[in-house]
Amino acid sequence: MLTLSERSRPIIVATLPVVGENIEEIAERFYRHLFGEHPELLDGMFNRGNQAEGTQQRALAGSVAVFASALVNHPDHLPDRLLSRVAHKHASLGVRPDQYQVVYDNLMWAIGDVLGDAVTPEVAAAWSEVYWVMAFALTNMERGMYSARGVRPEIVWRDWRVEEKFRETDDVVTFRVGRIDDRPVRTSLPGQYVTLQMLMPDGTHQPRQYSLTGADDGEGRQFSVKRVSGGGKPDGEVSNLLHDVVNVGDVVTLSLPFGDVVLDDSGRPLVFCSAGIGIAPMAGMLSNLVAAGSHFDVRVLHADLNEESFALRQQVLDDVRALPHASLHVWYEQGAEGSLPVDGRHAGWMDFSQVPLTEGAAYYLCGPMPFLQAARSGLIDRGVPPQDIQYEFFGPDLWQADTE
Ligand SMILES: Cc1cc2nc3c(=O)[nH]c(=O)nc-3n(C[C@H](O)[C@H](O)[C@H](O)COP(=O)(O)OP(=O)(O)OC[C@H]3O[C@@H](n4cnc5c(N)ncnc54)[C@H](O)[C@@H]3O)c2cc1C
Ligand code: HEM
Repeated sequence: MLTLSERSRPIIVATLPVVGENIEEIAERFYRHLFGEHPELLDGMFNRGNQAEGTQQRALAGSVAVFASALVNHPDHLPDRLLSRVAHKHASLGVRPDQYQVVYDNLMWAIGDVLGDAVTPEVAAAWSEVYWVMAFALTNMERGMYSARGVRPEIVWRDWRVEEKFRETDDVVTFRVGRIDDRPVRTSLPGQYVTLQMLMPDGTHQPRQYSLTGADDGEGRQFSVKRVSGGGKPDGEVSNLLHDVVNVGDVVTLSLPFGDVVLDDSGRPLVFCSAGIGIAPMAGMLSNLVAAGSHFDVRVLHADLNEESFALRQQVLDDVRALPHASLHVWYEQGAEGSLPVDGRHAGWMDFSQVPLTEGAAYYLCGPMPFLQAARSGLIDRGVPPQDIQYEFFGPDLWQADTE
């Protein structure tokens, strides 16, 4: 078990409040310093959209604060979900063990820069220990993931050719890519994502994650991309390039599939709750259930603006109909109109009182943060145990609700 030394523990307890108060400033200065020292990390490793929005800085700060408090308050119960989410994200980006030293050097520099004289040698030593306990946990998980897939961090990447590109809705396109060499296609677990590396007009590469929306067929992969419009802020740079520039015949680079929000195949009932493009991992899981000839009890609950904006709707409906015990219920913000023959169509926000919920089910949520928060509390209000609810969020996780 990973614990802090007796010497460091009281120092962490005493300095947690001041580090906690300043952690966002520390994280901001950390990234500025890191990219100053290592500009290559902005080419193919870090997502500059998340940096511009400040979400990655806050996610890093939040994770260190949650982890340090867990180390002092519940050393026997470390936040596994948080660690596993981060480790999967890292593996999908090919993070290497030796890079932990680089992050350490820059993080300790930022702590010193923000807290000044308060960082005595003893304080620095205690926080170094927290860092290395966390780094050790993460590198261990990542090493396990790389070795389970038979790869090294440098070779999680593979080129694929776009074989099909089709429009789902006004702002969502689906890509089917096929292999261009003879190597076997590694399997994915239902619900996982890949990182796509995009060559940008300025010559650098930008990574973005996309959930797999089709079951493995041994030949290719499928994913769906929503165009991100800035609405006053800059438009999303990778999603717009994928929509406007990447076409059939082009080559794209994808990582192996990773992600820890994956299908529970124990046979218990499954409930998928999604909003908007959050349907993507659900479509992937459904497709896998069909491919496996599953007899599980499956309920798909989906919220969207209207039927036209419901991406992957035909695929999802076909898959629901191909399963013997599955149903599809939708909520449309603009009214209950639609022609898709679903099992229930409602107007407004998703409302769990309008559908029967099965006892003992595993719940999967995916969608924008306000949807995730409302859906999780709605389920908990209806008596669903929090540990039966998992969520995928399409960005750095600033909520970390499942670390509770
Ligand atoms: C696990 C996971 C799975 C995902 N699966 C899918 C999926 O299946 N389908 C899908 O469509 N997406 C998915 N995503 C989201 C996807 O990875 C990208 O985040 C999304 O496509 C947007 O990328 P972008 O480059 O277009 O936007 P970015 O350029 O990264 O912009 C993102 C946001 O940042 C804002 N921004 C950018 N620059 C600035 C600035 N200078 N100042 C202020 N704000 C700024 C933009 O306005 C925008 O709102 C997933 C994400 C994760 C983490
Ligand atoms: C103990 C050390 C580390 C901690 C605590 C940490 C923590 C985190 C967290 C919390 C996230 C966000 C996960 C999410 O919710 O999506 C993340 C993502 C990431 N980490 Fe780390 N990390 C560490 C080390 C490293 C190292 C050594 C590297 C390699 C240089 C690295 C590169 C990244 C990248 C590229 C991302 C994705 C960023 C993005 O998409 O914006 N991390 N990390």
